[in-house]
This record gives sequence, structure tokens and C-alpha cells, in this order.
Amino acid sequence: MDESLTEILAIDDAGLARAAAILQNGGLVAFPTETVYGLGADATSGAAVARVFEAKRRPAFNPLIVHLRDLSHARRLVRFDPVSERLAESFWPGALTLVLPKLGGADIDPLATAGLDSIAVRVPDHPVALRLLAKTGRPIAAPSANPSGKVSPTTAGHVAAGLSGRIDAILDGGHCAIGLESTIVAPGPVLLRPGGLTVEEMEARIGARLSVRDDPDMPNAPGQIASHYSPGVPLRLNASCRRSGEVLVGFGPVTNADLSLSPSGNLVEAAANLFRCLQALDTRGRAAAVSPIPETGLGRAINDRLRRAAAPLT
Ligand code: TXA
Ligand code: MG
Repeated sequence: MDESLTEILAIDDAGLARAAAILQNGGLVAFPTETVYGLGADATSGAAVARVFEAKRRPAFNPLIVHLRDLSHARRLVRFDPVSERLAESFWPGALTLVLPKLGGADIDPLATAGLDSIAVRVPDHPVALRLLAKTGRPIAAPSANPSGKVSPTTAGHVAAGLSGRIDAILDGGHCAIGLESTIVAPGPVLLRPGGLTVEEMEARIGARLSVRDDPDMPNAPGQIASHYSPGVPLRLNASCRRSGEVLVGFGPVTNADLSLSPSGNLVEAAANLFRCLQALDTRGRAAAVSPIPETGLGRAINDRLRRAAAPLT
């Protein structure tokens, strides 16, 4: 595919109609969500889903998140237990992905779920994503719209930098408000991946604790390999100062920081800036040191991504 073949679509009626037509014909469209940009394909078509892996150059067929218009569509595909139902009712549309048992007859291509008997489902909280889902009338399988092993894109420009010429179109919806991927929860409830929705918010709503399964090698979320978020330069975490040759990424009132996740020490702002910051480090090509981030609320997901980004490339 030639680079010029990736259409950049505006988020107006014509752009959305074009994006929906591409998806319905088995093509690939990157689209904005409130978390990060997704690389969408018709989840009922194995050929379309296969193109996602090809475009991302994914080394393995990891299961993908299936994006849906609403809870009632999800109910036709997966079986909800009471706690998962309560989470969905409370936080959808939103940055929550639920991994639930697949119902017999659910029309989702097995490649989208990597042959598992569960499906990861999510209703995104973004008007463009929701309009696209409504227009196609299909479940859309969408991993983050980055080449495998690179950080997730939070702008259409990031998507184009990584995937231009490899996908059919990009819907340009500006910056993603949250900037971190969704939180993934399985029945239990078990936290499979910390993300944009905090554990504290979920626990408050269900009146129970989530257990954590966050082993980097765990088989349940194979996309969670340690080096998945590498910016391509060495990262030193919990750093109190810059060593020679390093770029210093601050959080809060840090003097001499070259970049900052949030000058005021705000975790929401830091989450929204995280992947942009990792992209910037990749561009600079120098080792980096990152200030400590508190392990509470969104800080848990930010630290998770930073630890993965700091893991040596395998
Ligand atoms: O915010 C997000 O979640 C973004 C936007 C586009 O929605 N998507 C995203 O997708 O981050 P991706 O493919 O980069 O990460 C999906 C994660 C992977 O770790 C994958 O292994 C896990 O979801 N996953 C998908 N289906 C699963 C399943 N049936 N069981 C367990 N884990 C699953
Ligand atoms: Mg990803």
C-alpha cells in the first residue's frame, strides 16, 4: 500500500459515511476513542481482522477488544454475571473493557478473540466512535492503532506516523481525552489491566474489592507483554534528578525537567500526556529519567505503562 492511499477523514457526515463504508467492505479505519485511537475492522470478518494483525505487524494473534454501540448489543454476544452487569451499567460508555464468556451463536470471528471462548467488549465514550458503530451496525474489533511494540496513539498524527500506507483511513478526531487504554476486568472481578477507569471508582460502585492479576507473562491478556510500550530508549523510573545525558520527565513541581507529565502533579493530566511524552522521547532518542508518580487512582495505570516502557526490549 502506498502512503498516499491512507485517507484522512474529517469527522463530518461525509467522513463518517466513508469510514463506515470502508469498514463494511472489510477495510481498516483508525478512529478516536476517549482512551486512545483504535484500529478498527469488522469483527465478524476474519479477513478484515487478519488485516489488523498485518497492518500492526503483530507477532502473534492476540485477542482484540470488540467495540459495541451499547450494552444491549453486548448482551447478545456475551454472558454477564451480576457484578459485570453492574460495572457495565455504571461505566459504559467508558474506559472499561469486560472479558466475558462468549455466547453460543455470537457472530464474532474467532480470529478477533484468538480462538478464546471469551470476548473482550467495550462501549467507548466518544461521539465519533459511537456514530461510527451506529453507522456500520457491526461490532468493531480494534486494538490500539500503533505498530506492534510501539506506544498507543492519542492523536491522528501519531496514527499516521506509525501506520500510514498500511491502513485505509484515519478519522481525525483530535486528542483523546483520557490518553490511557481502557481498564480490563474479568469475572471475579479480577483486574487484568489497569487503565483509564480507576480501581477505586469501580470498587466504590460494586462495594467489593477487585483482585489483581497483573503478571506481565499472564496468558489472559497476551497483549500485556512487558516491552509493549517501549519508547525505544532506556527509561529510569522514580528518578529524583537527571543524570548526565538523560532527558528528565517531571511530574509535579520538578526543577529542570525537560518535559513534564503534569507540572501541577495532576494524575488525569499526566495520563493524557503519557503516550505523547513517550512518543517525544522516541523522537529525541536519548535515555530518560521519570519522576516518581503516586501509586493511587490513575497513577496505578500510569506506573504500569511506565514499568512496561522501561522493560528491556525482547
Ligand atoms: O482503550 C483501549 O482499550 C483501546 C481502545 C482502542 O479501545 N484498545 C486497546 O486494545 O488497548 P489492545 O489490543 O491494544 O489491547 C487489548 C488487550 C490486550 O492486552 C488483549 O490481550 C486483551 O485486551 N484481551 C482482548 N481479548 C481478551 C480476552 N478474550 N481475554 C483476555 N484478554 C483479552
Ligand atoms: Mg495496544
